[in-house]
Amino acid sequence: MDEAFKPEAYKFRSMSAEDIPFVVQMEQVCFTSPWSERMLRAELKNRFAHYLVLETETGLIAYAGMWIMFNEAHITNVAVMPQYRRRGLGRSIMLECMKKALVLGATQMSLEVRVSNQAARNLYSNLGFTSEGRRKRYYEDTGEDALILWNRDVLATIEELRA
Ligand SMILES: CC(C)(COP(=O)(O)OP(=O)(O)OC[C@H]1O[C@@H](n2cnc3c(N)ncnc32)[C@H](O)[C@@H]1OP(=O)(O)O)[C@@H](O)C(=O)NCCC(=O)NCCS
Repeated sequence: MDEAFKPEAYKFRSMSAEDIPFVVQMEQVCFTSPWSERMLRAELKNRFAHYLVLETETGLIAYAGMWIMFNEAHITNVAVMPQYRRRGLGRSIMLECMKKALVLGATQMSLEVRVSNQAARNLYSNLGFTSEGRRKRYYEDTGEDALILWNRDVLATIEELRA
């Protein structure tokens, strides 16, 4: 396994202002409609927003964000740099978000995903998310529909995965 992926060789931490240029790059590499620097900086001032980055000795390789309102968390973004995918990092950063959401009082979590994004749909399905609806032509760049996924019991999922 790659040296960078020994458990002690990477860590999750909250996103800071200094991370924004690297996160902008991740957005550009990972999404067809990337968030801008201005949008990401605004999130640092949003009291409902919580963003995590995954850092190795060589830099940031993944990030994820969510908004937490009362007992609901809503995932805004999840991205892993292409060369680091399929090593469990997307799952790890989602689990970090789920644990943080619980600590902050959210018991359930939602997100939108492109119908065609099978990689992400598999990731979320393995973490207890199921489809509860569809937003027609939600993505302006392609006109694609979004599925609205929910995990209605984040604690139960985390306990099941620990068992
Ligand atoms: C979706 C994404 C975050 C997954 O990250 P990752 O680190 O590769 O995911 P993991 O290695 O943790 O994979 C977890 C599970 O997701 C599913 N998965 C991940 N990539 C997949 C792929 N290319 N094809 C099918 N299933 C895939 C699998 O079920 C996988 O479990 P397995 O490896 O045991 O089969 C990553 O592909 C990405 O950044 N994509 C671009 C941005 C994006 O689409 N974000 C989601 C927006 S809703």
